[in-house]
Amino acid sequence: MNWCTHTNIISSNQPLRYLFVHFNPFSIPGSAPMAKVLLFFFVFLFVLNVSTTTPLASAARLRREKLSHFQFYWHDILSGRSPTAVPVARAPPGLSSNATGFGQVTMIDDPLTLGPTINSSSVVGRAQGFYACAALDTVGLMMVMNFVFHEGRYNGSTFTVMGRNEVFKKVREMPVVGGSGAFRFARGYVEARTHWFDLNTGDAIVHYDCFVMHY
Ligand SMILES: *[C@@H]1O[C@H](CO)[C@@H](O)[C@H](O)[C@H]1NC(C)=O
Ligand SMILES: *[C@@H]1O[C@H](CO)[C@@H](O)[C@H](O)[C@H]1NC(C)=O
Ligand SMILES: *[C@@H]1O[C@H](CO)[C@@H](O)[C@H](O)[C@H]1NC(C)=O
Repeated sequence: MNWCTHTNIISSNQPLRYLFVHFNPFSIPGSAPMAKVLLFFFVFLFVLNVSTTTPLASAARLRREKLSHFQFYWHDILSGRSPTAVPVARAPPGLSSNATGFGQVTMIDDPLTLGPTINSSSVVGRAQGFYACAALDTVGLMMVMNFVFHEGRYNGSTFTVMGRNEVFKKVREMPVVGGSGAFRFARGYVEARTHWFDLNTGDAIVHYDCFVMHY
């Protein structure tokens, strides 16, 4: 099963684009038209030089930005003797907001697998972080997770998902807010879809589709 696909994105030269969009030589006060054109030309040469010779610029040029699509299953196991999700805090009893679990915080170190069954498919990484019941009127989680991967070129690299997860909706979208290693400068979003859920134990298997832009 292919868990990852890429699309290369043509990286544009941001400083030059900025110059052309925001710098109109004819708006310079005083001086003759020819002087303005010359001035613009020198600024252009300077920006061209800076934008192609600094370490940041060469990193951006050599390593084109990619859009990667990852998909895997996230296993949240609260039951049994080796849970991967542990509730660590909850609101004081007797509050009317109790029905949605408002205030409850659960720490997780959930395995991420290629297939939906945890015993028969390989673990490609883990989701480490926590989720908190952050909505009074529905089960709406605030999720903060670092996805850390163990596979090949992504071994040790992470990206961070932080967003709102209204668990009973069919599709939940959450932002990717950053990353490390292969996912430096990461940004993007994930789509979570519940694959299986046990109402008694709270155990869940959720399919994650991740769209991540990175270098
Ligand atoms: C709040 O929920 C807990 C379980 O999460 C339950 O034990 C408790 O009785 C509830 N309290 C009220 C007042 O509903
Ligand atoms: C996976 O394997 C463990 C023991 O190896 C077993 O306890 C557990 O029930 C299995 N889970 C599933 C979903 O088959
Ligand atoms: C990932 O990297 C660790 C060391 O950082 C190494 O022990 C492990 O074998 C690597 N795994 C894979 C699948 O390359």
